[in-house]
This record gives sequence, C-alpha cells and structure tokens, in this order.
Amino acid sequence: MKTIVAYKSKSGYTKTYAKWIAKELGCDIKENAELSDILGYDTVIYGGGMYAGGFNGAKLITKNLDKLSGKKIVLFAVGSNPGREHEMQPFWDRVLNPEQQKQIGHFYLRGGFDFSKLTAPDKVLMKMLKVRLQKKKDRTEDEQGMLDAYDTPVDFRKKENIRPLIDFVLK
Ligand SMILES: Cc1cc2nc3c(=O)[nH]c(=O)nc-3n(C[C@H](O)[C@H](O)[C@H](O)COP(=O)(O)O)c2cc1C
Repeated sequence: MKTIVAYKSKSGYTKTYAKWIAKELGCDIKENAELSDILGYDTVIYGGGMYAGGFNGAKLITKNLDKLSGKKIVLFAVGSNPGREHEMQPFWDRVLNPEQQKQIGHFYLRGGFDFSKLTAPDKVLMKMLKVRLQKKKDRTEDEQGMLDAYDTPVDFRKKENIRPLIDFVLK
C-alpha cells in the first residue's frame, strides 16, 4: 500500500506532525502538494492549519474527491484551540458532509501559536484580534490564553497525539 502525507504549514506546527506521521508509517511526505503528486497513492493523508475557522489547503482533497475515489483518505487539522468536540464538530461539518465524515478519517492535532513566526498579513489580522480581546471585559479562559500567547509562544505538539490517526490508517 503506497501512502503519502501531504501538508501545508505556515509556522511549522503541521509540518512537525506531518513528519512524525510519515516517519511512523515509513511513507512519503510532500509539502504544498498538487493533485498530480497524490494521485499515485492508495492512502492519502492531508494536514493543514486552522485559520479563522478554515482548513489551510484542504481543498486539494475536498474539491477532488471524485478523482481520489477508491483511495483511503485521512485529514488532520492543526490549530491552537483545545480541540473540544462541540467546537471541532462545526469545523468538520464545514469541511465534509455527514456521509464523507463516515468514510474519511478526520483528526484534530493540537499545534500552538507563535506570533513571531506569522506572515505579515497574518500579523495584521492577529493584531486586530488582540485589540478586540483586550477590550473585552469578561474574557473566557481560552480568550485569556490566546491573549497571553501573543507574548509567550505556546506549543502543544506531542508525538502521542498522532496515535489515533496512525491506528486508523493501519486498520
Ligand atoms: C490569522 C490566524 C487565524 C487562526 N485561526 C485559528 C482558528 O480558527 N482556530 C484555531 O484553533 N487556531 C487558529 N489559529 C492558530 C493556528 O491554527 C495555529 O498556530 C497552528 O498551529 C498553525 O499551524 P501551521 O503553523 O502548521 O500553519 C490561527 C492563527 C492565525 C495566525
């Protein structure tokens, strides 16, 4: 079975998970893959960061499901949120319909946040969010955590987080 991990990563968190997964499976890995790069594989694993509730680069898979039919498809999203079910389900509902969610493995792997590693446009976006958060009176624990992370980068990457995904691929 030929397997590839394709991914997009802006500040390196998804890249780490992609490398861990590829090493564990002993398979190929490709950053910024195009459709032609993944068509020759039986199992395609795609990973990307969460950006404003979107899934970086996942259209490579979701817009090409007809061309990828017959393959085992696995998605992993990497964000800074804690990954609570009721917060992640609406995200997956935007990415995959209920039938697709039964067929396609989909996993959340917690990454982190490092302001210094952002691109200039993302820095602007996140500075606007910072001002909004600073003005807010009753901040939730998550919002306070986000605000703190502007000064002190947070990193929740753990190798053991890939286990459920690996088990899904191997089963
Ligand atoms: C502009 C912007 C928007 C973001 N939106 C979300 C989000 O909606 N949910 C989330 O969990 N994390 C969000 N994050 C955090 C990233 O998903 C997180 O830093 C992730 O680890 C990045 O992975 P990457 O470096 O591989 O792209 C956002 C970060 C930026 C800069």
